Amino acid sequence: MINIPRGTQDILPAETKKWQFIESRLEYLMTLYNYQEIRTPIFESTDLFARGVGDSTDVVQKEMYNFKDKGDRDLTLRPEGTAAVARSYIEQKMHGDPNQPVKLYYIGPMFRYERKQKGRYRQFTQFGVEAIGSEDPSVDAEILAMVMHIYESFGLKNLKLVINSIGDIDSRQAYNEALVEHFEPVIGDFCSDCQTRLHSNPMRILDCKVDRDKPAIQTAPRITDYLNEESLAYYNRVKSLLNELDIRYEEDPNLVRGLDYYTHTAFELMIDDPSYDGAITTLCGGGRYNGLLQLLDGPNQTGIGFALSIERLLMALEQEGIELVDTEPLDLFIVTMGDQADHFAVKLLNQLRKSNISADKDYLKRKIKAQMKQADRLSAKYTIVLGDQELENNTVDIKNMESGNTETIELNNIVEFFKNKE
Ligand code: HAM
Repeated sequence: MINIPRGTQDILPAETKKWQFIESRLEYLMTLYNYQEIRTPIFESTDLFARGVGDSTDVVQKEMYNFKDKGDRDLTLRPEGTAAVARSYIEQKMHGDPNQPVKLYYIGPMFRYERKQKGRYRQFTQFGVEAIGSEDPSVDAEILAMVMHIYESFGLKNLKLVINSIGDIDSRQAYNEALVEHFEPVIGDFCSDCQTRLHSNPMRILDCKVDRDKPAIQTAPRITDYLNEESLAYYNRVKSLLNELDIRYEEDPNLVRGLDYYTHTAFELMIDDPSYDGAITTLCGGGRYNGLLQLLDGPNQTGIGFALSIERLLMALEQEGIELVDTEPLDLFIVTMGDQADHFAVKLLNQLRKSNISADKDYLKRKIKAQMKQADRLSAKYTIVLGDQELENNTVDIKNMESGNTETIELNNIVEFFKNKE
């Protein structure tokens, strides 16, 4: 037997209903905030992520699905959406659009070769938002308000928004120097990844999964002490806007995020529930990326965004016991007796469905009792039993499954019957 690849999943009909519900809710929310959908390729040049996400990040070093195509090009299944959206913004000259920032959202599969555990997949579905073309703190506040609105709209309550500022490029440089000085004397005790990170990307040491409990991490210098005046003013402005919008947040100076493009605002939304026993608590993450477009040879434009995975949103809903949707009942189930009735039912179904009435029938020539059971399983609102007699008389008894009442109607009036119920 051939099995599904590790870290991927089949989403079966009972689950897809939830996915569709979530996706349409997200699409609706996007209309409220005036964000529009962008669709970029599933694979991109490997260079895009190496440069955009950062050569020394775990995502690029360890987690990418890279391959060569028949033309010997280095390609990668996208591990995230921001670099691709930034590439598209540049390539499609969206900076020429008079409406800045360009407000975009995307939804689709992302791929990371990660260790499999609950809430962590190798193929997962991100819903992401990017606002590119403005450096106004009110865009940061809008994005954070949107994150909270999304999760609260599903009825989730046990949430914690954690924010930080990682400053502009200058602040980061000063901070990186302080980190090198701090970790250098003790780096021998750290994992081999951290030892290489010390000079290439010292901030990564702060979110190392192996060394996170080391005392030197707890006593490390804090970025907030290295923010220059401009970065501090920006951060304060974002926080005061959040206060005005009544958005509760916690500050965590060690929140540095796993991707290199961030500047200024960085944030994560976490599950905040003492009864939760999973290892993964981050539901959503994002931040501002003021240098990314220039790094990709684009214009001097800045952006901010976030991404969440539907898988982790479902995990949070399950944790809080929130049921998303009832199964949609079927309008009509046709019970058939005999070949002629079955043949008639095929045509009738076609007519009903084209009139926007959901309907189904038996396909296994089962006994009436078994067909009635199937109607129950599908929560059919009405049933008819169709046999030679009904065809001859051109009438049928239509039964309301909830009340048990029946009504006799003409066979060619079934569509009208439903239309009159609307
Ligand atoms: P990220 O923190 O790498 O950021 O991922 C964002 C979200 O994607 C996570 O919070 C989580 O919900 C989900 N996620 C990541 N990896 C997995 C996985 N293996 N299995 C399931 N879910 C996962 C980004 O990707 C940035 N592009 C976000 C962003 C947009 N920043 C600015 N704009």
